[in-house]
Amino acid sequence: MFTVVVELGDRSYPIHIGSGLLASDTLLRQTLQGRRVMVVSNDRVAPLYLDAVLGALDPERTATCILPDGEQHKTLASVERIVTDLLQRRFGRDCVLLALGGGVVGDLTGFAAAVYQRGVDFVQVPTTLLAQVDSAVGGKTAVNHALGKNMIGAFHQPIAVLSDFDTFATLPAREYRAGLAEVVKYGLISDAAFFAWLQTHSRELQQRDPAALAHAIRRSCEIKAEVVAGDEQEQGRRAILNLGHTFGHALETGLGYGTLLHGEAVAIGLRFALDLSAQLGLADAAEVTATIELLRTLGLPTSRPRPLPADRIIELMGVDKKVRDGRLRFVVVNHIGSAEVRADIAQSMLLKILDRGVEPEDVAQS
Ligand code: NAD
Ligand code: GLY
Repeated sequence: MFTVVVELGDRSYPIHIGSGLLASDTLLRQTLQGRRVMVVSNDRVAPLYLDAVLGALDPERTATCILPDGEQHKTLASVERIVTDLLQRRFGRDCVLLALGGGVVGDLTGFAAAVYQRGVDFVQVPTTLLAQVDSAVGGKTAVNHALGKNMIGAFHQPIAVLSDFDTFATLPAREYRAGLAEVVKYGLISDAAFFAWLQTHSRELQQRDPAALAHAIRRSCEIKAEVVAGDEQEQGRRAILNLGHTFGHALETGLGYGTLLHGEAVAIGLRFALDLSAQLGLADAAEVTATIELLRTLGLPTSRPRPLPADRIIELMGVDKKVRDGRLRFVVVNHIGSAEVRADIAQSMLLKILDRGVEPEDVAQS
């Protein structure tokens, strides 16, 4: 096991990463220290891992809240369900919520923890690759609104993250690949050597090789921890963590939550961000090609799906948390390993790029 710390003064917390973390109950016990715990999970993950978590906890001081699985349930209604369970069981402000699942469970449990009695502690036990490298770290919590993804939320840091990559044994291939999109993102925004390492280790990552996974998760968490420690509430640099997300979120909302996996939408968004960067004279053509090739080698999509026309995507991108004074802002890559936010993107440039990155069958018909 190794530990990465998110340095936030007296709210600093550890991300424990390794194999066998759930099987050995010591770490969970140490983290929860006998407090009353509400374990929040969903009906897909709970049958797999709930018993392991409950085995480490005092049954007298533990309750569970099992939600239906799926991005479409990342809603205020699910948060209300958690709050109702907490109130019915008379949980006080000294309780801890424990999120057991992927990014959906983590985001909505974190939001419930942020608002329950004006804020209680929570622990993240992420069980997808995407959640281990991204959503469980950094304290962004949220639920979706029909008009926009993650539009209702709060910054609320967990007190600990326990990432056990044994949970990937049951993770479907498509979900696993989706997590790799966020891993590629870290190379693009902050670490060219890591991007090059991903290029040379793509086969090991596809095969879920434990050593390769350990390096990929650790480096991703180190980069995220460093960015979050420097700009917890996204006043500036943290926005680079959203590379590809403005476009990706628009696809997710436009196609209906759950049609594309979040990581798949991000992968298409990364291609879009690289195309945009090249149009601005930043990234060069070789970097665009290298990014598309890496994403494709990892089994990720890089073209936008047919049903959404370019003008609808632009409209949807207008509902983005980076919008300031009604102006869209995009994260672009200066070169692989360095990113910045730009507000000076003309609509004509967006249309040009969106017209290019369509699925092959679209191209054939247009
Ligand atoms: P998810 O939570 O929907 O999990 C994917 C699927 O895998 C679900 O069906 C889930 O039940 C199942 N699952 C989870 N762990 C499993 C396991 N070990 N074995 C078998 N099945 C398992 O999706 P995700 O990709 O983990 O997270 C996506 C969500 O995270 C989105 O809502 C996105 O907005 C959010 N997100 C948040 C942040 C943040 O900073 N807070 C960052 C990135 C993404
Ligand atoms: N996933 C983007 C962030 O945490 O800021």
